[in-house]
Amino acid sequence: MEYLLLETRGPVAVVTINRPQALNALCSALLEELRETFGAMARDEAVRAVVLTGAGKAFVAGADIAEMRGFTPEEANAYAARGAQAFAAVETLPQPVIAAVNGYALGGGCELALACDIRLASEKARFGQPEVGLGITPGFGGTQRLPRAIGAGRALEMILSARPIDAHQALAVGLVNAVYAPEALLEEAVRLAETIARNAPVAVRAAKRAVHLHARRALDEDIAGEGRLFAQCFATEDQKEAMAAFVEKRTPAPFQGR
Ligand code: CAA
Repeated sequence: MEYLLLETRGPVAVVTINRPQALNALCSALLEELRETFGAMARDEAVRAVVLTGAGKAFVAGADIAEMRGFTPEEANAYAARGAQAFAAVETLPQPVIAAVNGYALGGGCELALACDIRLASEKARFGQPEVGLGITPGFGGTQRLPRAIGAGRALEMILSARPIDAHQALAVGLVNAVYAPEALLEEAVRLAETIARNAPVAVRAAKRAVHLHARRALDEDIAGEGRLFAQCFATEDQKEAMAAFVEKRTPAPFQGR
C-alpha cells in the first residue's frame, strides 16, 4: 500500500491516510486502497473498531483536483463511482468507524468523514464543500450524507456558499461529536474505539447495521444520481478554468455559466 498506514492497537485498527504532500487528496489509487483495506478489515474478526485519520495538516483536502481537471463527463462519472464504492466500503464495514478529523476535511474529505459512523475533531479541523467554487458539485456523497447529518438548510449553506466552518461550528451543527486539542485527538478516538470494542461484537455490528438500515435504503441510488450531476459539470468551461487556476495557483477568470 502506497497511501495508507495500518496500525493495530489490540482490537482497534488505526488507518492513516498518508499522502501529506498533496494534503491527502483522494487520487484514484488512494480510493482503491481504501476500498481494498476496508474490504479486508470486514473479514478480520480481530478488528472490533476502526479509527480513520490523516497524516500531516489535513484529514483529506478533497478529491484530487490535478487528476480531475482534464476529465470528460464519462471519466468524472467513473471517478464518482470509484469514490462511491470506496466510501460504501467504509460505511458498510461491519465494525464501527470513527473519523479523527485532524485538519482540513474539504470536499471529498468532508464526504469521507460523513461516511464514517462517528466524527471527532481537532481544534484545527476545517470542514467544507468548496466544489461549486471549482465549477462542480460534491461528487462523493456530500449532497446526500451532509443533509442527512445536519439538515438540508445547513447543508445547503455549506454546499452553495462553499465556505468552510471551523471545528466549533461543526460541533454546533452536529457534524462532529466532540472537539479536542490537536495532540489529544487520536488518543481520544482510540479510547472511544476501545470502549466500543469491549462491548459484545455481534451486538455492536447488529446495532450499526440497524442504525444504517433506513439511511442506506435509497442512498446508493441517490449517490449515483449525484454522480451524474457531478459528471455534467465536467462539460463546462467554468470547471476547466477553475481547476486549471487551482493547479496553476492563480485566481480563476469570472465564471461564465457554461
Ligand atoms: N487536490 C490535489 N492537490 C491538492 C489538493 C486537492 N484537493 N489540495 C491540496 N493539494 C496540493 C496542492 O496543490 C499543493 O501541492 P504542491 O505543493 O505540489 O503545490 C499541496 O497539496 C499543498 O497545498 P497548498 O499549498 O494549497 O496548502 P495551503 O496550506 O496553502 O492550503 C488548502 C490548504 C486551503 C486546503 C488548499 O490546499 C486547498 O484549497 N485545497 C483544495 C481544497 C478543495 O477545493 N477541495 C475540494 C476538491 S473537489 C472534490 O472534493 C470533489 C468531490 O466531491 C468528489
